[in-house]
Amino acid sequence: MIGKAMQEAMNEQINKELFSSYLYLSMAAYFEEKNLPGFANWMYIQSDEEREHAMKFYHFIVERGGRVTLKAIDAPKTEWTSSLEVAEEVAAHEAKVTASIYSLYELARKEKDYPAEVMLQWFITEQVEEEKNAAEIVANLKLIEERGTAVLMLDHRLAKRKGE
Ligand code: FEO
Repeated sequence: MIGKAMQEAMNEQINKELFSSYLYLSMAAYFEEKNLPGFANWMYIQSDEEREHAMKFYHFIVERGGRVTLKAIDAPKTEWTSSLEVAEEVAAHEAKVTASIYSLYELARKEKDYPAEVMLQWFITEQVEEEKNAAEIVANLKLIEERGTAVLMLDHRLAKRKGE
């Protein structure tokens, strides 16, 4: 049976994951308006993944005999000044999510909730990937801003080059 403190913290996390999903959907709408369907696609996929994250916590609470209680989801931001600003916000947001996952993990250790520890390890690994992807997009956009698209295209070509 899940403890009260863990149940409450995971219910909070469901809200954070659903907010992330909502925020990324809002970013997708921004990109659609700017005629950047590729960036919008990135955000649609991210948004779907965040809902899946929320559902992992949801089912974990249920499986452990706890009670899911959904809270209001805050309205996300709707306007940005550039693609780089959006990407930087995604990176900053993911860093916040990582901090929140770490807090849950610390709570699991404190409460000796071993199933929660195991379940949260998946999220710890996932956050490494999420932060890396966001940082890469920020870096690419900065490169375009500073040196134009040619350098980026050449970099992609060199990345595919194999040794002889
Ligand atoms: Fe649910 Fe992007 O972390």
